[in-house]
Amino acid sequence: MVQKYSFPDGFWWGAATSGPQSEGRFHKAHRNVFDYWYDKDPQAFFNQVGPNTASNFYNDYPQDIALMKEIGLNTVRTSIQWTRLIRDFETGETDPDGVRFYNDVIDTFCRNGIRPIMNLHHFDLPIDLYKKYGGWESRHVVDLFILFARKCFELFGDRVKNWVTFNEPMVIVEGEYLYQFHYPNLVDGKKACQVLYNLNLASAGAIEAFRKTECAAHGGRIGIVLNLTPAYPRSDAPEDVQAAAFAEDFKNKSFLDPAVLGRFPASLEKILREDGVLWQAEPEDLAIIQNNRVDFLGVNYYQPFRAKAPEGMFDESHGWLPEKHFAAYEMPGRRMNPYRGWEIYPRSIYDVAINIRDNYGNIPWYISENGMGVEGEEKYRNAEGFLEDDYRIDFFKEHLGWLHKGIAEGSNCFGFHAWTPIDCWSWSNAYKNRYGFIALDLATQKKTIKKSGYWIRDVIKHNGF
Ligand code: BG6
Repeated sequence: MVQKYSFPDGFWWGAATSGPQSEGRFHKAHRNVFDYWYDKDPQAFFNQVGPNTASNFYNDYPQDIALMKEIGLNTVRTSIQWTRLIRDFETGETDPDGVRFYNDVIDTFCRNGIRPIMNLHHFDLPIDLYKKYGGWESRHVVDLFILFARKCFELFGDRVKNWVTFNEPMVIVEGEYLYQFHYPNLVDGKKACQVLYNLNLASAGAIEAFRKTECAAHGGRIGIVLNLTPAYPRSDAPEDVQAAAFAEDFKNKSFLDPAVLGRFPASLEKILREDGVLWQAEPEDLAIIQNNRVDFLGVNYYQPFRAKAPEGMFDESHGWLPEKHFAAYEMPGRRMNPYRGWEIYPRSIYDVAINIRDNYGNIPWYISENGMGVEGEEKYRNAEGFLEDDYRIDFFKEHLGWLHKGIAEGSNCFGFHAWTPIDCWSWSNAYKNRYGFIALDLATQKKTIKKSGYWIRDVIKHNGF
């Protein structure tokens, strides 16, 4: 068969997961916000399944990594849990079992020929730092995060050459402070803006710390992973175009611009200032953000954002919200993933590629997550018990096709990671929707390769399909 899509040499083919979604809580010194929320209110989680065992990576990592090797992945991203590695947040004293665990995980990846990409924060703020300081609302927490990051670089930077400061910081802003899907489930637009700012500062501060390490001196790189949801207007009418422009500023450029260009979009600052919700900044911050831009960018792409002009007067009862300037538009006929409720629009990957090429200096970047969560996958097992997830293969083929076009037109993309290697715990959706190349039987913790796992192995072998 003739290969239609070939990817650049050295392309990263892999998958991403995170500490809190895969490890389980075994031997952790502290609780993160999700651990705490689950202990307090298990009803808030699908089938009341929490993060206690997750996919048991804490105990199973040698076998799990062997399975990842079996399906050919050359790179895998996971995250170091602040609540596992650090015993004392204020001094940065480490937890011996946490250090042992991450050392072993990193060594096992390396021994299996899989390059580990280590992320420092995947929504897993220590609950103590929320209770004591208000979490990301506080600059002290920004400093504590930088201390934790420094520890990670010192401990693991001899083997980990690719670091990520944050996964989807915008989701922290939206989940914790606007739309109530992460603890503490607040609706507070002003705090949301401050948190957005503090997260940018924390990322830049961690990059500054990284640049002083041996790892950076020997070619190590550091980036950020952003969930980009390209904003498309409902129509060419100026009100819709303006609504989409604000959505793009608030949802995407608020992290993309500081990370890559070293500054916030002036148009965003202007509107937030007029609305009286602009963040508090210290004079020295600007230089930190400007001088500590990322070496590379990870883009999690799942869905676009379709915007229309807001209808009627803005409801002030919850204070300021970004919806003062846009409303979500449900485009008739859009293709949906009904399980997750997300639109499927593969062309956006191409739009992202061209946007990065033209407006972000063609910085090296990769797709750090893309995938399709499906409920009730067990019904797709054939008579031999083999899980035939052809819909997932088709989903990836379409997205990779558009990514390939972007690369062919000069976008500097160096890899593609699926979400996720092994079915993992999905926050309040728990194990409702499955995303993995490898299936997890929750009752037995047995892990088996799906059809998509063998498919990706073939793609990796041929560096294309
Ligand atoms: C991304 C996150 O938003 O999407 C992951 O980085 C998450 O943590 C994944 O699991 C899939 O989303 P969800 O909400 O279905 O788990």
